[in-house]
Amino acid sequence: MQERVFHLQNMAGIIIMQESVKKIAETMGFDIYDQHRIATAVSELARNAVKYAGGGTVEVYPSEEGIEIICRDKGRGMSMRGVSHGLGIGLLGVEHMMDDLTIDTGENGTSIRIRKWLR
Ligand SMILES: Nc1ncnc2c1ncn2[C@@H]1O[C@H](COP(=O)(O)OP(=O)(O)OP(=O)(O)O)[C@@H](O)[C@H]1O
Ligand SMILES: [Mg+2]
Repeated sequence: MQERVFHLQNMAGIIIMQESVKKIAETMGFDIYDQHRIATAVSELARNAVKYAGGGTVEVYPSEEGIEIICRDKGRGMSMRGVSHGLGIGLLGVEHMMDDLTIDTGENGTSIRIRKWLR
């Protein structure tokens, strides 16, 4: 399947992106529960990008093994602000819903990769 890129500036764009990602997951063969997990996780990352960085991009890479999604923004990065390892309820939920969560954040922006394997 083809990779897809979504450019997000506001919350309205997130809903359309989330629906598209859910369709991709369905086509790939993920069951309805995983489709919801993936759609919820990507929407959480996109919401953060819009809320904390004024927008960003979501790249979707489907493969035989599963789905890989990277959400990038050019914001100021995740300041820890005393939060334990920087994860709030939103990102803890993402970690729980996906098989893998990798965060790369710095003063030039944040890039978060999530993956879920097909079983
Ligand atoms: N893309 C981002 N750029 C900068 N900071 C971020 C980004 N994403 C998350 N953060 C920081 O990490 C913290 C934790 O994010 P998380 O989504 O877990 O919780 P939240 O957004 O604060 O709350 P919730 O998602 O429940 O509304 C945020 O409060 C914010 O400070
Ligand atoms: Mg959040």
